[in-house]
Amino acid sequence: MLKVGFVGWRGMVGSVLLDRMRSEGDLDSLAVQFFSTSNPGGRAPHGGASAVLQDAREIDALARCEAVLSCQGGGYTSEVFAALRASGWNGYWIDAASTLRLREDAALVLDPINADQIQKRLDDGCRNFIGANCTVSLLLMAIGGLLREGLVEWVSTMTYQAVSGAGARKLTELGSQVGALGAATTDLQGGSAIEVEQAFTRVQTGAAFPVSEIGAPLACNVLPWIDRAMDSGQTREEWKASVEASKILGADPPVVIDGICARVDALRCHSQALCIKLARAVPLAEVRDLLSSGNAWVRLVDNSQEATLRQLTPAAVAGKLDIHIGRLRHLSMGPEYLGAFTVGDQLLWGAAEPLRRMLGFLRDARN
Ligand code: HSE
Repeated sequence: MLKVGFVGWRGMVGSVLLDRMRSEGDLDSLAVQFFSTSNPGGRAPHGGASAVLQDAREIDALARCEAVLSCQGGGYTSEVFAALRASGWNGYWIDAASTLRLREDAALVLDPINADQIQKRLDDGCRNFIGANCTVSLLLMAIGGLLREGLVEWVSTMTYQAVSGAGARKLTELGSQVGALGAATTDLQGGSAIEVEQAFTRVQTGAAFPVSEIGAPLACNVLPWIDRAMDSGQTREEWKASVEASKILGADPPVVIDGICARVDALRCHSQALCIKLARAVPLAEVRDLLSSGNAWVRLVDNSQEATLRQLTPAAVAGKLDIHIGRLRHLSMGPEYLGAFTVGDQLLWGAAEPLRRMLGFLRDARN
């Protein structure tokens, strides 16, 4: 069996990945060795009482694995990857972090979109396979059917990104913010709407409101800035859209994708409002057929209030592998302009699932 070292299995992405591996039976078809940066020698989450955690900073122990899968974050990748390669290790490095994404010797993995390229890179001897930015992966999963037909001239995407994308501590702080707002209105049962609004606003803008992690109130608010500034005026999250999508698709010239990324107080799912400039006027029935044939996870949602509120929200999609896309219509700019709204779980297809499936490629190559 393929010997895989798993680092970062306790964090949000790692624990979702471990759950997926358990439910797909991967732990029975791979020899998984669990590593830890904080508790080497402790009990591993799988393999019985005798299975202990290896030290995730011990290069020799990592080098005994044929593949290392890291959800530990970019700091760990920077600390360990170069040293592991310098030791002569020629195994497969699979990573959720962005650190290595744009290196020539790394491929981005999103196999429902780029299985051919993954296979080609494997055949060519590539050893580094990296998960892409969550928003980019979810967008490509949603509109893969149109991209495949060469029908997309450009995409403007306006995102509504869940707090889990910003990390566990920020999600926990959002919980504290929600709690503080809830406490502010417990005495206001029967109060007027304006009294409720004023009580919320007083607490949300007060000095005691917890913002040390997020940097601003997120509960009952929208923050149109994610990651650091680029010279272009984009944020780095916005800059990644075209760069990473083009690498996943092998598109040269790059596919034009741009927009504004905003953080909202959703928990797991990223939403994106799309304006797609099509290469030609495509009838909606054909658009729907192409989108739903894009991959096995796309789910079309009717452009009705009932279906939208039931199926096209972060709460409705959380915990699911399905990628929902709806609000499909030609925009009033003309029949070549398609409007759409898509929602996907950023911890699943946005992070854990492409990495889990990369292990499948390696396992299949072995058999
Ligand atoms: N950069 C993303 C976010 C995380 O901030 O939501 C998923 O890659």
